[in-house]
Amino acid sequence: MKPKRLREHWGSRFGFILAATGSAIGLGNIWKFPYITGEHGGAAFVVVYLLCIIVIGLPVMMAELAVGRTAQRNPVGAYRVLRPGTPWFLVGVMGVLAGFVILSYYSVVAGWILAYVFKSISGAVTGFTAAAGGAEAAKAHFQGFAAHPGWSVGWHFLFLAVCAFIVYRGVKGGIEAASKILMPILLAILLVLVVWSLTLPGAAAGVKFYLVPKITTVSVGPLSFPFFKGLTGSAVLIALGHAFFSLSLGMGAMLTYGSYLKKDADLSFSTMTIALMDTVIALLAGLALLPAVFAMGLAPDGGPGLLFHTLPAVFSSMPGGVVFAVLFFVLVAIAAVTSGISILEVVTAFFMGELGWRRSRVVPVVAGIIFLIGIPSALSFGAWEGLRLFGLSFFDLMDYLSANFFLPLGGLLIALFVGWGWGPKAIAAAAEGSYHGFPTGKIWLWMCRTITPIAVAVIIIAKLAGIG
Ligand code: TRP
Repeated sequence: MKPKRLREHWGSRFGFILAATGSAIGLGNIWKFPYITGEHGGAAFVVVYLLCIIVIGLPVMMAELAVGRTAQRNPVGAYRVLRPGTPWFLVGVMGVLAGFVILSYYSVVAGWILAYVFKSISGAVTGFTAAAGGAEAAKAHFQGFAAHPGWSVGWHFLFLAVCAFIVYRGVKGGIEAASKILMPILLAILLVLVVWSLTLPGAAAGVKFYLVPKITTVSVGPLSFPFFKGLTGSAVLIALGHAFFSLSLGMGAMLTYGSYLKKDADLSFSTMTIALMDTVIALLAGLALLPAVFAMGLAPDGGPGLLFHTLPAVFSSMPGGVVFAVLFFVLVAIAAVTSGISILEVVTAFFMGELGWRRSRVVPVVAGIIFLIGIPSALSFGAWEGLRLFGLSFFDLMDYLSANFFLPLGGLLIALFVGWGWGPKAIAAAAEGSYHGFPTGKIWLWMCRTITPIAVAVIIIAKLAGIG
């Protein structure tokens, strides 16, 4: 299919890198990463996560960007022009469907964050001192809020409306412009919070937990050797899955952003910068939170509730906690918006490219559909709590299916496409590019053919076998 209009492009490489970094940095970095690190043994988990980023994250990101840049199409159209008449386009279809699903529940959590920005400004979430019930009281407050159908659906709507507003304005005037304003603010706030958190009395215990791996001795037969303490097989699987989610891989988001690059844009430098920034921000988020949690004498393994149960209690008991809380929730809100728009853009690009609709018509329609799909998730914490599918609430089912199944499968297929499916032209497209004489393109291509798909297949099979 021939595009009727000229394809939109990024205004600059810097703008593209900020937008893609904005997609990668999201709730995954600031909400999920610190608590899964807390639950899975701290520093040892961080080491494994970094390995996953290198072995799986970098090659898959390069693969997505290369496919998008070469095809100059949305995820479905891209496979159609690169390998016409083959079923590869179904990988794109799966990505677009995953986009609807992921944004529908991501928007629910992001909506709570928006609400907490306002709640923190009014002081409503910083009154949970130990005397006032601490984390338990904060939890009860959160549960009451999330269970209220009007609030949870309303904030879900508002978050989508913000994303739709930005995406409506286009790639350069909307996504890139918003990222250029929001990403520097995000970084500045984060640095302030890290410094503040590290200077709290008692912060050192948190830093140690986070950055110094605990070593234990493992004996196998007559041999004994040192090994990371608390690092289990399931932690490895979780680190792998999280690498996908955090780098926005496996559903065509990077493919779509790559499709707005000029055909001669470099991929090596961009891929490394985006992955590096994403990782650094995840580590900094942990450094902003875990020392504060330790300094206030709370446990770091608060699970998904870390953000809404433990942290309000931490903010309530620290000096200047109200300001810390406001800055923190604004930071998370920015991260969520720049990620939400990247998911919305995947679906938008698909409707524009494959149905030929105008952007101004697509955005309200797809945002409306995602709003409706998200309603059961928004109600999962209250009115529809009893509704169980395969033993999970609607929200948990959406999260489980996408993070553990759709994204890894999508990433596996994208790696296989570049490694084996695309044909000789791909080899040229993907292998071009080097970094200071280092043949990064060739190395990544080789990884897409071998270790990357094997590693991902192992995760999926282990998940299906119930090991994870
Ligand atoms: N990477 C984002 C985060 O860490 C979430 C995200 C944005 C995403 N776009 C995506 C996840 C595409 C998977 C696929 O929160």
